Amino acid sequence: MAAALASTHAHWSSRFAFIMAAVGSAVGLGNLWRFPFMTGQNGGSAFVLIYIGCVLLFALPVLMAELAIGRHAQQSAITSTRKMAIEAGKSGKWSIVGWVCTAAGFLVLTTYSVIAGQVMAFSAAGFAGGFAQPDGATMFYGTDGVKMLWHFGFMVLTILVVSRGLKGGIERVATILMPLFFLVLIGLTVYSLINGAAGAALTYLFAPDFSAVTGQTFIAALGQAFFSVSVASAIMITYGSYLPRDSNIGSSSVLIVSADTLVALIAGLMIFPIVFMVGMDPAAGLGLIFTALPQVFSTMPAGNFIGGAFFALAFIAALTSSISLLEATVAFVEENASFGRSMTAWLLGGFAFMIGAGAVYSEAFAGGFVDVLSGQILLPLGGFLVAVFAGWVIPKSLMRTELSHASPGLFAFFHFAVRYIVPVAIGSILVLGLDDRFN
Ligand code: PFF
Repeated sequence: MAAALASTHAHWSSRFAFIMAAVGSAVGLGNLWRFPFMTGQNGGSAFVLIYIGCVLLFALPVLMAELAIGRHAQQSAITSTRKMAIEAGKSGKWSIVGWVCTAAGFLVLTTYSVIAGQVMAFSAAGFAGGFAQPDGATMFYGTDGVKMLWHFGFMVLTILVVSRGLKGGIERVATILMPLFFLVLIGLTVYSLINGAAGAALTYLFAPDFSAVTGQTFIAALGQAFFSVSVASAIMITYGSYLPRDSNIGSSSVLIVSADTLVALIAGLMIFPIVFMVGMDPAAGLGLIFTALPQVFSTMPAGNFIGGAFFALAFIAALTSSISLLEATVAFVEENASFGRSMTAWLLGGFAFMIGAGAVYSEAFAGGFVDVLSGQILLPLGGFLVAVFAGWVIPKSLMRTELSHASPGLFAFFHFAVRYIVPVAIGSILVLGLDDRFN
């Protein structure tokens, strides 16, 4: 432990910087793009309720575990899990936990950048007056070549931030952009509730209706909870490794999941009034915000500006998340190779760009294969492994030392959750869900 303490590893400059970066990672396309269409496809309010349950019971304890593991070992996810297992007298092969999470995060990044590129294109379209014509956005995001350029541009931005490191890059971007994000979010939501079909949206999101619930609803909600809170993707272990020893992981985790869930619900209140106003089908799927919203923007007063602002908001959210996705893999390679941070960021970002490029040519690949593989298989599996690691592999006393600020009640909940609730529930959800899928 003394060696870990003496490490020269970078640290956050303040608690504010850490919270902004972690909330910036959590709040992303998962909240503004994925949550609305998952809710739409899974029956609205019942999904919302099950989702909130998944956040509290699964994502929160896994988040606490990840921050604690990273903070303890002060290294990337793969190295931290290996180091901590060995320290606990167990096999270094437990680094499999870090490997699965790192692979999941990297895979998410490949297509995340494609969707974020589309978001950038639509923001530009709005500010340039493109929503005035019904198919105006197509001019900005029509051909595959153009789509590739936006994907490329977004990945380059991500790489540039990560290559500048923790303080000069990630912290700076998060502390400036996140406060701006909240301002624009509140402004747009108030506008949408006043001008759109607020009543229909509220009923849809919050009036319980369990008729559409199936086994798939649970696996979808679980995958969405992990996706949205940025767990099971190596990010939070990595961000935890930049925490100083005296930080309060329990209260930070509660703050991060609360902010993330609040943003998802507010995003619902921003988007669904508009969707219902024009009578769009909320279950339109992947393209919900890219097809429904521009149509509305083309008919409403100041629609171009509002539309441009909406997609700019999503762009900010996406950037502070994609940098965390890239950082998780960069931290690992940087530890083990001598290319230096900047070169590592360009190499890994370039590799992710190329895999994502395949998705530009196939929405089925991007939204279907990669999204299902990462969101519904790898993330739940990663969360399962993190829970087993924190609940069974690492002694309870060691976890308690890392979570020393947590109240006895919160720690008892945490430990019971990672030891029993998360492994048993995810284990059965994975088996039943996959069984469902292949039958
Ligand atoms: N949490 C972010 C979002 O909801 O968009 C980014 C993200 C991180 C997505 C990790 C998926 C993931 F596995």
